[in-house]
Amino acid sequence: MIVLKSPREIERMRVPCRIVAEILGLLRESVKPGVTTLELEELAIRETKKHKAVPAFKGYAGYPYALCCSPNDRVIHGMPNATPLKEGDILSIDFGVLYDEFYGDSAITLPVGAISDTARALMTATEESLYCGIEQAVAGGRLYDISSAVQRHVEARGYSIVRDFVGHGIGKQLHEDPQVPNYGVAGRGISLKPGMVLAIEPMVNCGTYAVKVLQDGWTAVTADGSLSAHFEHTVAVTEHGPEILTRLA
Ligand code: MF3
Ligand code: CO
Repeated sequence: MIVLKSPREIERMRVPCRIVAEILGLLRESVKPGVTTLELEELAIRETKKHKAVPAFKGYAGYPYALCCSPNDRVIHGMPNATPLKEGDILSIDFGVLYDEFYGDSAITLPVGAISDTARALMTATEESLYCGIEQAVAGGRLYDISSAVQRHVEARGYSIVRDFVGHGIGKQLHEDPQVPNYGVAGRGISLKPGMVLAIEPMVNCGTYAVKVLQDGWTAVTADGSLSAHFEHTVAVTEHGPEILTRLA
């Protein structure tokens, strides 16, 4: 069941979404060689408390941390740990909060110091593909217009779209209907309506799209060990087009 949000509810969703954007902004400034993802986790928890918000992922289906930190061949759901980041890594950070009954959810992939051209190009293509998808989040369009736009952008550049994980509706639940795949046929899927709020989140691999989940039951890695990037925004479909609620103004 898709829950439509009133303009008033979308106003309320701006708050958790802005908190997420601000904290991701702080994390971006903190990521450098030598820093550990557990230190990033502590920073995120401290800042979330300052905003009187609640981390969205910690405790969700038993996930133990506020952040998902997924370096290099980690696709999503990597757990913060005590291993220092090193120059040349890329790090995907996924973060969400709950505030005043509503969730916000966003992800970015960051360079650690100087990175290879290969890694930079993957990050750029992945972020661009998110914006291609967001452009299609318009009333009167179809859900898979979003999916198709993401997929086409990524595959035209020789990368592959992860299929085992998808974006989602978001609101009073972290994960609501509909599922938002990052691959599909334009013109198909449900009709998009004002009041839908979607977390669009392409995960893109340099090699094949196949992923596997490690023994910890969470960490998804590329099956072929290739690099992977992830960007996500919470986006409202409105009468005036897509509104990116997790954009840092
Ligand atoms: N942004 C991811 C998602 O929407 C993060 C979820 S992590 C979890 O699935 F721990 F909450 F599952
Ligand atoms: Co999400």
